Amino acid sequence: MKLFEKNGHAIIWGDAIDALTTQIPDRSIDLVFADPPYNIGKNFNGRKDRWPSDEAYLSWSYQWLELCVSKLKPNGSLYVMTATQNMPFFDIFLRQRLNILSRIVWAYDSSGVQARNYFGSLYEPILFCVKNKNNYTFNSDDILVEARTGATRKLIDYRKPVPTMYNTKKVPGNVWHIPRVRYRMDEYENHPTQKPTALLDRIVRASSKPGDIVLDPFSGTFTTSYVAQVLGRDSIGIEIEEEYIKIGLRRVNIQEIYNGEALRREPRTYEQQDSSAQQQLKIFERRPQWNTTSHQ
Ligand SMILES: C[S@@+](CC[C@H](N)C(=O)[O-])C[C@H]1O[C@@H](n2cnc3c(N)ncnc32)[C@H](O)[C@@H]1O
Repeated sequence: MKLFEKNGHAIIWGDAIDALTTQIPDRSIDLVFADPPYNIGKNFNGRKDRWPSDEAYLSWSYQWLELCVSKLKPNGSLYVMTATQNMPFFDIFLRQRLNILSRIVWAYDSSGVQARNYFGSLYEPILFCVKNKNNYTFNSDDILVEARTGATRKLIDYRKPVPTMYNTKKVPGNVWHIPRVRYRMDEYENHPTQKPTALLDRIVRASSKPGDIVLDPFSGTFTTSYVAQVLGRDSIGIEIEEEYIKIGLRRVNIQEIYNGEALRREPRTYEQQDSSAQQQLKIFERRPQWNTTSHQ
């Protein structure tokens, strides 16, 4: 296990269960966001996201879920994701330990290859749970969205002493339409299941205050730590794959150099093409004036 730390942001390179057990004191964390491997066969830099059986996956998951629960402060919150088919088991397990306040559906569209003979899966479930349903952080004013009721004009409330427009801002419901991270987006990193900053932005804003500690035991590209930093929270991110640790060190501004390697965002293929085109142009510009005008 290796630790990196700067300005209230810690990265732990190691196994989640080990790190949670040995590095994080009980009742010390305000908000946990856990986005583990889903047991669906993804490839995390060579590490297989596949357990020998559903039972094996669940018994591993129950270990880190139990640890996450014990790391939460008495007024802390936990958000957890997994595949749709595993979520009912997480739900039953957590219901016995925490209060589940929302069962969120993160919905997105896809233009890629989709199922043709059944209804393809275009959502991922998220559970939002708190330790104490009478004492937890929920900054509703910081996450308001425009209500989309289908009305084409602003409705006026005539029951008020002075007729007033209805307030159309509301706390989001439990279906969140947020696009997945695509290759051409600025935030894209080389990881198969990177979560969008917009998703974490809503979670971190709603369920933590500036200065709180946000913990992510399966950090991947460190979206959670990145968003926590932007929003003035502290963060602890755990990740087992060195390649992803390097992304985190760069994204959370902890280190620019790692073992002599400059940590840079991987250039997109289209950026490489763009920059070689610019180079050609510069070479051309450096040549003496023998171009079109000189022939006239
Ligand atoms: C679903 S991804 C998380 C993606 C992340 N939320 C993001 O926005 O990029 C799960 C991550 O867990 C990591 N992982 C797998 N097994 C682990 C373990 N035992 N301990 C810590 N991290 C692990 C994988 O390398 C992968 O990056």
